Amino acid sequence: MKILIDTANVEQIREMYDSGVICGATTNPTLIAREGREFGETIREILDIFGDEALVFAEAVSLESGKMVEEARELAKLSPKIVVKIPMCREGLKAVRALSREGISTAVTLVFSPAQALLAASAGAAFVAPFVGRLDDIGADGLGVVKDICDIFKAQNSSTQVLCASLKQPYQVEQVAKAGAGYATIPYGALKMCFEHPLSAQGIDMFMDDWAKLQKEIADK
Ligand code: E4P
Repeated sequence: MKILIDTANVEQIREMYDSGVICGATTNPTLIAREGREFGETIREILDIFGDEALVFAEAVSLESGKMVEEARELAKLSPKIVVKIPMCREGLKAVRALSREGISTAVTLVFSPAQALLAASAGAAFVAPFVGRLDDIGADGLGVVKDICDIFKAQNSSTQVLCASLKQPYQVEQVAKAGAGYATIPYGALKMCFEHPLSAQGIDMFMDDWAKLQKEIADK
């Protein structure tokens, strides 16, 4: 499963890119607004962090398909790394179909059911983004939706990729990986938690202590 970071904060993106575990970043209007900076400037700075193999997701904010297509064309001009996020709605899928014909890569976001994912794939989306955390937050089965989407795409031999989103905890990352999702985008805090386990820290300390004791014993001989 390929990992992306779910933030528009360039310091967090740079830190995690340097850690070697992410292949890109996902943004949305809320994440962009949280940084309080101009959209294009933020996206261009994020693009500069990554190498050519990366994926940077930037969301269209229009709600009419023609305007979404225009936005997507402008975003796509920034870099081949750009994937344009389009919200799951009738106008959105019209835009996805048009953009697919132009070779512009799209991710249909705010997906909450396998039926929505199926329609998005049918429209030509390169990615669908089921929101696991928001489903779990209303007592629905976010993982179950991801599993069903993965099963459907596999049964249909679909080329559309599943980008799991709205992930809050490491266990959700583990579960969607088990379900077979190709991509997961993880917020900075949850990504940091994925690195950490108390036994790892404890084990490193023990190894270092024992190594230091040995060096002292050798030096004292
Ligand atoms: C992808 O970038 C999604 O927009 C994001 O994961 C949504 O996360 P949230 O449900 O915590 O807002």
